[in-house]
Amino acid sequence: MFSALHYQAWRRARAAYYAFGLSRLPFGDLLGRAVSEWEIAQGFGDSPKEKARWDAEYGDGRWSHLQKELANYWLLIGFMDAYRRGGEYLDVGCGDGVLFERFKRLGYQRYVGIDISDVAISKLQLHNDQRTSFTQANADIHEPVGRFDAIVFNESLYYLRDPIGSLGRYAQTLKSDGCIILSTYTTSRRSMAVLRDAKREMSVVDEAKTTRGNTSWLCTVLAP
Ligand SMILES: C[S@@+](CC[C@H](N)C(=O)[O-])C[C@H]1O[C@@H](n2cnc3c(N)ncnc32)[C@H](O)[C@@H]1O
Repeated sequence: MFSALHYQAWRRARAAYYAFGLSRLPFGDLLGRAVSEWEIAQGFGDSPKEKARWDAEYGDGRWSHLQKELANYWLLIGFMDAYRRGGEYLDVGCGDGVLFERFKRLGYQRYVGIDISDVAISKLQLHNDQRTSFTQANADIHEPVGRFDAIVFNESLYYLRDPIGSLGRYAQTLKSDGCIILSTYTTSRRSMAVLRDAKREMSVVDEAKTTRGNTSWLCTVLAP
């Protein structure tokens, strides 16, 4: 009984936090962290997860459906090419390379991908060469080397523990005219709140929506 009430109270607090943008209040950061910890404890699909869980999910093919998100990927690639053709790219939470496998034919000066999952990244390491590097790393704490024309978070920013703090940290590694490209799954409260907060921190250069069946994604180009 008590645990059911406790669960309902947290569910409501979470809904209010996202619906009313409570992160802007004086104790918003604290509240955000508490909501986040509760989401993690509940195992919500759009909240941070341990490395072991990502490894298990890639191991049993849970993410193979990403291959079908054609419009989302091609829009993202279109933005990567249109805004920073042939430049230096950082792909944060690159998974097992659905984006890279499609993008690589357009050419690039440097492509760096990081992902928390060894299982995912191991499929990409055959591509490692002087211009290309795929490494296992936790994006919550990773310090990228060098500067980038574009930093891509394809359905990955909202899996970080402090998405907006991390966004700011990665943005510091952009070249002077560089951009961040986010792709956001629109059905998730957490992902849409992260996108809203990201838009408060940076300027929106471009944005478009793609849909497949009942599911949509927003692809957003941001500049510092
Ligand atoms: C929905 S998948 C998207 C994968 C990839 N962007 C793609 O297009 O195939 C989210 C990805 O974020 C990665 N991820 C989650 N938390 C992470 C973290 N803290 N550091 C690095 N990668 C993380 C997961 O392992 C997973 O590959």
